[in-house]
Order: sequence, then C-alpha cells, then structure tokens
Amino acid sequence: MTSTKKATLTFTDGTPSVELPIYEGTVGPDVIDIRKLYGQTGKFTFDPGFMSTAACDSKITYIDGDKGELLYRGYPIEQLATNCDYLETCYLLLNGELPNRAQHKDFDYQVTHHTMVHEQMTRFFQGFRRDAHPMAVLVGCVGALSAFYHDSLDINNAEHRHISAIRLIAKMPTLVAMAYKYTVGQPFMYPRNDLSYSGNLMRMMFGTPCEEYKVNEVLERALDRILILHADHEQNASTSTVRLAGSSGANPFACIAAGIATLWGPAHGGANEACLQMLDDIQKNGGVEKIGEFIAKVKDKNSGVKLMGFGHRVYKNYDPRAKLMRETCYEVLGELGLHDDPLFKLSMKLEQIALEDDYFVSRKLYPNVDFYSGIVQKALGIPTSMFTCIFALARTVGWIAQWNEMISDPEQKIGRPRQLFVGSARRDVKAIDLR
Ligand code: SDX
Repeated sequence: MTSTKKATLTFTDGTPSVELPIYEGTVGPDVIDIRKLYGQTGKFTFDPGFMSTAACDSKITYIDGDKGELLYRGYPIEQLATNCDYLETCYLLLNGELPNRAQHKDFDYQVTHHTMVHEQMTRFFQGFRRDAHPMAVLVGCVGALSAFYHDSLDINNAEHRHISAIRLIAKMPTLVAMAYKYTVGQPFMYPRNDLSYSGNLMRMMFGTPCEEYKVNEVLERALDRILILHADHEQNASTSTVRLAGSSGANPFACIAAGIATLWGPAHGGANEACLQMLDDIQKNGGVEKIGEFIAKVKDKNSGVKLMGFGHRVYKNYDPRAKLMRETCYEVLGELGLHDDPLFKLSMKLEQIALEDDYFVSRKLYPNVDFYSGIVQKALGIPTSMFTCIFALARTVGWIAQWNEMISDPEQKIGRPRQLFVGSARRDVKAIDLR
C-alpha cells in the first residue's frame, strides 16, 4: 500500500509527536497505519469491539453502511441475488471473478463430487443426545473433518487450500442435513449428483428413503438466494475469528469450526433464531395489538429486551439483504399459499412501527438480514433450531475466501492484540493463614 497523506499525532505529556501514514482504499474510509505507534511512542491504541479499527486490507466484500450497499468483489448483492446461483457466487468470492460457463460447470462438478462425508462420520452423531442443539453438533463435526484429511492440511500449499475449500463448501449441506435428521430420528439421506446444491440440501433434509422427493423449484431458488445473501460480510465477528484462528497456522477445518462457534451467538448469526422466538412470543401474548407494549419494553434499558433482527454495527440504513429477504419471503409464502402467515404480517407491522419510532430512527436501527430470514426459513420447513446452521453453511465460502486471502498475504502475522491493564500492581503471595 502506498501513502500520499499523513496524520500527525501530538501529545500533551511530552511524548514526541509522530507522523503516521494514511492509506486510501478503492472506496470507503481511509485508514491510519499505527503499526509503528508502540515502537515510536510506547503507547497502544484502545478500541474494544473494534469500532474504529481495520484489522486487515481485503478485496472480497465491501459494505457502505450509510448507503445500505453490499458488494461481493464489486458486484451489488441485488444483481447477484437476481442473476446468479450460490455456487457461481462461491466461485466469485473465492477467485475474484464470476465464472464463465465452462468454469461454472467445472466448479459445480468439483463441489458435487465432494458432497459425501467419510462413512465413519456417521458415528460422531451417535455420541450426541437427540436433543443436542444442531449448532453444537455442527461445530463438533466440522472440527473433526480435519481428522480425515491428513493429505491436505499444509496451509502453505495452494492446492491443499483449494481442495479444503471445495470439501468444506461441498460437505456443509450434508453435515447440516445430518444434524437435522439426527434430531428427528430419521435416517441420513445421501447426496444426489443429479441435484443442484440447494436442491440436494432440501432433499437431504426433507426427503426419506420411503419415497421419491420432488424438489419445488420456486423453493429451491428461494433457498439458493438465502445462501447468496449470507455468503460473506466483511470482517464480522465470525470472519474475524476465522482470520485470527488462521493466523496461528491452524488447519482450515479448525478455523471454520471456530467461525461456526462464534456465529452461534444471538448478537450475530443466532439472531434469526432469536428473532423468530421474539415474534412467536409477541404472537402468543396478543399479537399485533400488543406490539406497542413490546416496543415499550425494548426502549426500557432495564428490560434487557432487544428488537432482534434490528440494528447493525455497520448498516446505519436498511440492510440491503433484509429487503431481498422480505421479497423472497413474499415469494415463498405466495408459492405455499401462506400470504396470511400471521408471523409475516406481525413482522411487517413491527417493522413499520419501529421505523416510525424515534427511538429506532435516532439510533439508525433498521431491519438486518436476520429479521425476515427466520420467517422464510420456517415457511420452507426449516426448524428454528436449524436457522443458524443454514447461516453457517452459507457463510462457509466467505470464511474460506477471507482465510485464503489472509494466508496468501506475504505480510501476514499471527494476530496478537495488547491491552490496557487495570488490575493489581505486583504484590507478594502471603502464607494461607495470613490471607
Ligand atoms: C449479523 O457484523 C456483521 O456483518 C454481522 C452480520 C453478518 O452478515 O455477518 O450482518 C450478521 O450478526 C446481523 C446482526 C444480528 N443481530 C441482531 O439482530 C441482534 C439485535 N441487534 C443488536 O444486538 C445490535 O444492533 C448489534 C449487535 C447488531 C449491533 O450492536 P452495536 O453496533 O454494538 O450497537 P449498540 O449495541 O451499541 O447499539 C447502539 C444503540 C444502543 O442504545 P444506546 O446505548 O445508544 O441508548 O442502539 C441500541 C443499543 O441499546 N440497540 C438496540 C438494538 N440494537 C442496538 N435497541 C433495541 N433493539 C436492538 N436490536
């Protein structure tokens, strides 16, 4: 990176002032390079939650929070969700360009022919209780994948990184479907090479050996679009975790398992499950008529109640994915004759009220990707407990693309933040009877 601009930092405590280079990106905020700050001043910066910190440079995804814009490798999410399928988007995120027809066919073939998991993986599931949360199962099984691929764990070998990417993208639907089947006590379904990526996921989740499963093309397309909308999102909490884990040289399966664990939190990928739970609770306690009471609770800081599916660290405008998710929701409910779905009507009323309420407007709280995704997934027959597994499945390609970009960076170092220590100064241990 070249720098034409500089920042001068002056101190009132006698520390000599320092000049720090400023770098400009293709688009978005400039960054101040503070890598030499500690060496030159003996001081750290302080930024818990990384509100003002760029942890890396990246070419993959760009978000303009004020405009509500999301670009994958420069392409607007609206155009990708309309004109591409999920595997095409995976190719783009991994390689930087959309595939031509031959490349798309070859990539699909590679992914399709890695969808089976090692037969011994099925024994992992026997160790879990039937009522285990599917995310707990997924974290365990994805981490365990590294036990099966000793031949491709050299992260400095581009070929090993490629085959690991293909294996992870290909096997996530199989593992997610197995996690679901295990909770409902049905036999695992093997993937079929004559089905699309999303069609396979639907059949492995909802098909049984007792009869042919017919993929509904409208629902298949809707699920594929949901995967596209969740594929990547800059340096969010789970992606930052994958990068940090990867910076230690951990294998890709372990890094993705760390990302899945982070995504599980209700403030992050667990929000769609929490959002549907919230809508269910409002519905049970009076529905639309009781929305005012619920909003009052959200505005009362002591209640600890948040409007799940609303707000975002970066988007201070409408999350473009929420708009596309609402359209998909409408299409799916229409196809299934559920236009009068009470939760969908409740969510639209809740959105309308919140967007007119100064508490949300003044804090720039808008619906995010999770606000509608729970409703459309429920309509597709996906149980609430599986929502974050679907999110993890979709985000796996983003995590891998970001991990790959970091590993391939010649300047890459192990991530090791410092701290402001506010604990006890040095003191001596007293004998136990003197404490
Ligand atoms: C995802 O980072 C990503 O890109 C994530 C993601 C991705 O694709 O990877 O987009 C996926 O995680 C989407 C976010 C899903 N989470 C939720 O929907 C959970 C509900 N949202 C909040 O927890 C919150 O909005 C966050 C965590 C998403 C963002 O938190 P921030 O940026 O730290 O903002 P904040 O908590 O400091 O909120 C600012 C103010 C606060 O009020 P004040 O202290 O200023 O009075 O807004 C309030 C908050 O109390 N607030 C909310 C709220 N979100 C923020 N109040 C009520 N309901 C909410 N949802």
